[in-house]
Parts: sequence; C-alpha cells; structure tokens
Amino acid sequence: MKKTIFRKIGLLMTCEGAMKKQGRHIQEKDLSIVQNQSMVVGDGTVLWIGPDQKLPRQLKSAKEIDCRDRQIYPGLVECHTHLGFGGSRADEFEQRLCGVSYQEINRRGGGIQSTMQKTRKMKQADLLMKSQKRVEKFVQQGVTTLEAKSGYGLDLKTEIKILEVYSKLKGPRIIKTYLGPHSLPPEFSTHDEYIDFICQKVLPQIAKKKLAERVDIFVEKGFFTPAQAKRYFTQAEKLGFEAVIHADQLSLSGGSLLAVEHGAQSADHVIEIGEPEIKSLAKSEVTCVLLPLADFYMRCSYPKARQLIGEGARVAVATDFNPGSSPSQNVSLTGLLARLEMKMTLPEVIAAYTVGASFALNKNSLVGSLEVGKSADFVMTSLDWSELFYSADSFGFDQVYVRGRQIYSAAHYEI
Ligand code: NIG
Ligand code: FE
Repeated sequence: MKKTIFRKIGLLMTCEGAMKKQGRHIQEKDLSIVQNQSMVVGDGTVLWIGPDQKLPRQLKSAKEIDCRDRQIYPGLVECHTHLGFGGSRADEFEQRLCGVSYQEINRRGGGIQSTMQKTRKMKQADLLMKSQKRVEKFVQQGVTTLEAKSGYGLDLKTEIKILEVYSKLKGPRIIKTYLGPHSLPPEFSTHDEYIDFICQKVLPQIAKKKLAERVDIFVEKGFFTPAQAKRYFTQAEKLGFEAVIHADQLSLSGGSLLAVEHGAQSADHVIEIGEPEIKSLAKSEVTCVLLPLADFYMRCSYPKARQLIGEGARVAVATDFNPGSSPSQNVSLTGLLARLEMKMTLPEVIAAYTVGASFALNKNSLVGSLEVGKSADFVMTSLDWSELFYSADSFGFDQVYVRGRQIYSAAHYEI
C-alpha cells in the first residue's frame, strides 16, 4: 500500500470532538485543534494521526509532505444542492424584487416549471459539462462531499438524464438524491396522480439502475402535502431509499414533524417552525439543514438556529445552490450569513459544514471528521481557522484532497 505522511502539520483540525457529540451543542474545543502533529494516509483513508516523534518506524520510508507552515481542515460537506439544470432565472429575480411572490411566479408557469423546460431540452453532454464546471467551483472551495438533487426534469426521461449525469461527475464524493416531487409537471392534472406515477413508474427504475440513494420532496402549500409525502416515502422505503424533506420553507406545512415521524435523514429549510417542531426535531435523529443563502435571496426569515441549537438539535448548513431561490455557490458567504443572520458561532458553523452535514447525508462514519479509518478528505491552506466563513468572497484553498488524492491545487498566475 502506498502511504503518504503529512508531517509536522502547523495546525490540524480534526473535528473528532464534534463527531463524538454527534454534532450537538458544539463548542470551540469540539473542533479538536492540535499542533505539530503528523497524519499518515494510505488506501484513501487516514491510517494514523499523532505527534511526529511517535511516527511508527515502518512508516518512515513513505512519501513525505512537509506541512510545517500549513493548516489542515476536514473537507467540507455540501449537503443540499440542485446542481443539474439548464438556463437561468435572472429575469424572475427582478420580478420578485418588484413584489411578485415566488409562489405567484410558479403559478404563472415560471419558477421550477421554467427551469424544467430548459432542462428537458438540454442534451445530456451539455448538462454534464455544465454540472462538472459547477462541481469544480465547489471543490475549489474545499467541498469534498457534494449532494446533488434532480428535480428539474419531472418526467422519467429527464430525471434519469440528470441522475445519469451525476453518476458521471468527477472529483468529490457525490451523493445523488431524486427530487421528482419538486413541482407538478404539465402532464398531470393533480399532485396525487403525479405521486402515483412516481411510485409506480419512476422509483422502481431509479432503484433498479441505482441512480440515487435518497429521495426528497417539496412539502409546501401549493406543492405537495404531508399525506402525499407519506405515500411517496412508504414506496421509497420499500425500495431502499433514504428520505429527506424540503420542510416548512415558505409556510408551516407539516414537513418537519413528518421528518421526525418518518425518521427522515434531514429536514431542510425549517424556517416557519414553532416551539413544538423545534422541540421535536431537537429530540430526534433528524438533522436540520439550514440554508441561509436561499433566505437571503428570498428575503424571508432565517431559521431559528439559536433555539434549535439550544434545544440540542443537530444542524448542518448548505448553499441550496439552484437557479431560483439561491443562484450562488458561495460556501463562505453561506457560513457568513449563518454567523451574521442566525447568530451561529464560528465553531458551530464549521461543525455544521463538516460533522452536521455528514449526518444529514448519513455518511458520518466515512466523512465529516479526520480520524483513523475515515476517508482522507481534507483541505490544506495557509488560512487561519478564524478566517473561515469571514469573507463574502469565496474560499480559495491551496490544495484539496479526496480519498487521499489531491484533486485540486490553486492555480498560480505566471507573469
Ligand atoms: O430549495 N424549495 C424548493 N426548491 C428550491 C428552489 C427551487 C427553484 O426555485 O428552482 C429550494 O429553495
Ligand atoms: Fe433546495
């Protein structure tokens, strides 16, 4: 086995403590920051972490990288994106700023419907090229695990096209989520009929082709009801899919409580929730995925992060990158908004973007922290950790490693 030793790391953040606490009640010490340690990587995993002078003898012949003036942080886990779509909705943004609501735009055939038209028309090769470029933009910002939802095809053919594109993406670990129940496509006159079609025709195909491991649904007034979501999840569960929900984003629609009742992996957005939902989420294993960049663009309230965290909920933070409510991939700005608008502390944001997000994807035994046996996914940088989620510019890390392999190195201008 080829091994690499990252020697005498100036500062190593492992997030081991935050992982032990399963992402709840995070404090600075839970980031587990150590100095002058070395880390041995082989076969894509972390083999050893400890003080350099205790480096096992038999490892001395391995390839060495001097990390004396470097910091190493766990790779970021971006757990909620709508990565694959065609076109842009910049025109609608202007309409929204002039007072037309998101729901009204959707009723007029804009919104998700308009992206659906453009995505259906797009050739698979073009969608792949666009999506791969977006992946690279995330990787440059230190993202080593990336979730990608379908949901802009809505018919069988295009949903499969999108998920096949996701299967071909290169670089980070990609977690694929089917989001057929995102909006009602024109081929169906009722949401119930569309859910029947999904349960009978789409889910079995996606399961057979192994095109996704999770399913998502937009539970919202004017979109899908908790009863429809239950029917969908029951069928999805039989086929082995995990469940996640776009919950209580624009109105209190029952998504969060359904997430708890069903044992969903995550409840995402969770803006319009009250005391009963907060208490119930906090006691559960459901991770609350907070998406402040979408709230910023939508000019709506931000989730009550302080209350959720105070009650003991596990939270994750993500961009929600999509062409409508969050047309930005800026990870640093997302965390900055979590600090500014949701009053999360910096250690809470860092843990949310690593440990919390790894739970949201049910990948916490593999990623989210740097520990022996886990995937060697990390960033190397000269940036002090106090500068993370500080600038409204996007991160630029020096190097990004996935499974122990360097997949990105910052470009240098040569003049
Ligand atoms: O997470 N809420 C539903 N889905 C996206 C928005 C999709 C769109 O507007 O295209 C979201 O905000
Ligand atoms: Fe979303």
